[in-house]
Amino acid sequence: MTFDSANKDQRPNTESSDANLPDVYGAMCLTQDQPFLEIFQEGLQRTEMNNHPWLRPRFFHMVQMLKLTSGLTGATADAGCFRGLSSFLICNYLNLEKTANGATGYHGQGHFMIDSYEGLSEPVAQDGAESKQRWGEKAFTNTSVERVLQTMKDFPEIKIVQGWIPDVLSEVPEQEYRFVHIDVDLYQPTLDCLHYFYPRLVHGGIIVIDDFGPWRNKKWPGCQQAVRLFSKESSIPFAAFDSGNAVFFKR
Ligand SMILES: C[S@@+](CC[C@H](N)C(=O)[O-])C[C@H]1O[C@@H](n2cnc3c(N)ncnc32)[C@H](O)[C@@H]1O
Repeated sequence: MTFDSANKDQRPNTESSDANLPDVYGAMCLTQDQPFLEIFQEGLQRTEMNNHPWLRPRFFHMVQMLKLTSGLTGATADAGCFRGLSSFLICNYLNLEKTANGATGYHGQGHFMIDSYEGLSEPVAQDGAESKQRWGEKAFTNTSVERVLQTMKDFPEIKIVQGWIPDVLSEVPEQEYRFVHIDVDLYQPTLDCLHYFYPRLVHGGIIVIDDFGPWRNKKWPGCQQAVRLFSKESSIPFAAFDSGNAVFFKR
């Protein structure tokens, strides 16, 4: 697995064997959920992100999980936003949900976008040497709140929460959540987010963790350890998917 330090705008490249995974998900997206590809492509354009082979399946699963929480009350949150692709998908799917239910449209109300907007916090031992290297290379720093607001211009009522997890979580209003996406890559902020958000989920609410990692995951080993530790210490099971996401469901 390599990271092109000359191009810090982009997410890490995968091993070439990952790039050769069969495109079964493309067919699924088209037949099972037609708006997905169009929204995903628009999101890629707005955020100027590369379409890495694992990105689409992870985000496809993410929006399927969001759909499972349809009709529940509570806010939505995206912890780890970078340029806003995941939130762009979440808000577009909330818009589809609202308009299907006869509402006039969704403008981002009740959606919280939490990030330093300055890259990763410092990795700890659980995150491994590669994460430390990426942090040193200032991965994910090529963004800004202004840029994210432009990506999210169709949803002017979203709330940007800028700062470092966990401290910044005290700035988020005390409230319940129906759906939370955690994509902060590292051990400590993933664990902090799980401790913060899981108790605030409504029954039936879902947390999706982006970086659990399915295959040869040396990339963000700390995230997987955080998920396993949270599950063990709280006796709450999680499901892992071959797309790389893991999911907690509030029972
Ligand atoms: C993989 S990127 C998120 C990608 C995003 N979900 C998308 O759709 O493109 C990881 C993000 O986590 C943020 N991050 C990592 N550690 C953080 C921390 N301790 N506090 C706040 N943000 C953090 C980084 O700034 C970065 O934007």
